[in-house]
Amino acid sequence: MKTLTLLISPLAKSAFYGAFVEIAKAELTWLLGAQEVHYKRVGAMDFFEIQASAQQLPQMASLASIYGIFECQAGRLVPLPVNSPFELHEDFVFGAKYRGKTNELLTQLLINVGLRSIEYSAVSDVKLLDPMCGRATTLLWAMRYGMQAKGIEQDAKALADIRQNVKKWCKIHRLKHRFEEGFVGKANRQNRGKFISFAANNASMRVIAGDSANAGSLLRGEKFNLLVSDLPYGIQHFTTEKTRNPLAVIKACAQGWSASLKPGGAMVLAFNSYSPKRDELIEVFADYQMEALDFSAAHRMSESIVRDVVILKKKAAY
Ligand SMILES: C[S@@+](CC[C@H](N)C(=O)[O-])C[C@H]1O[C@@H](n2cnc3c(N)ncnc32)[C@H](O)[C@@H]1O
Repeated sequence: MKTLTLLISPLAKSAFYGAFVEIAKAELTWLLGAQEVHYKRVGAMDFFEIQASAQQLPQMASLASIYGIFECQAGRLVPLPVNSPFELHEDFVFGAKYRGKTNELLTQLLINVGLRSIEYSAVSDVKLLDPMCGRATTLLWAMRYGMQAKGIEQDAKALADIRQNVKKWCKIHRLKHRFEEGFVGKANRQNRGKFISFAANNASMRVIAGDSANAGSLLRGEKFNLLVSDLPYGIQHFTTEKTRNPLAVIKACAQGWSASLKPGGAMVLAFNSYSPKRDELIEVFADYQMEALDFSAAHRMSESIVRDVVILKKKAAY
């Protein structure tokens, strides 16, 4: 075991606001296991000091809030050359800026805590679903991890935006890739079931236009290891044909989302804890054999939004 000093990324402040130290700590301890974490501030920089083994270094390099890993040698902090394991240029995830985009570090944290909550032999075997994927921040992150990812988005215009964005970065970074588009089921003017797929570096993603309440049919019964999503924060963003009540939309989706997970799989949801409340959200999924794990990452974003994260694990025998 060595004493390591971890520099917290300055970007963590714009992701997690006043709670960035607590959330960096929550992610760190979830990934590395319970241990003593000492926080210290030097000038404008924020650090953690921990005891860790060399085997834990790659995992530390993928933490959303950690920007650098240092070892103390003869009273000086020496940066360790630990490379993060990611494929695809970071522009694919961080490059586009648009209204409603989920913070990139929050998305990375959701994937990290989800991976730590399931069993798998290689990350390339992990299949991830974002059933409310917007313009694909989660799916592009999943590709950087080397996974196969799928998403559902009610706004069919998102498909063209994603295509344009991804094409741009493929051109700039001269990346060999494949694009495909089509329909799940019959082609139709409303674009229900329309999809685009993008594959590069042995990873892939597909975005399907449609209402997530129909996840079962849109995904043709496919099963995933991880479901990761940033749920809409206000009722104005929950615009299915059936209802504008957030809890009612989640209830309409819960069966299909749970059924799309493999036994032992996990669901990681970011949500505005004013609506639905954490307990209400957990209760909806309890009907489908999903159990909440002991993780949370509550942080105030504005007067009307306290964002939190819940991890729900599907019982292995279900
Ligand atoms: C917080 S945003 C996700 C943003 C996304 N992570 C990104 O960075 O682009 C929530 C998304 O859920 C979508 N949504 C809401 N209700 C939906 C439904 N019933 N089916 C599919 N998508 C839905 C919204 O259109 C919105 O794009």
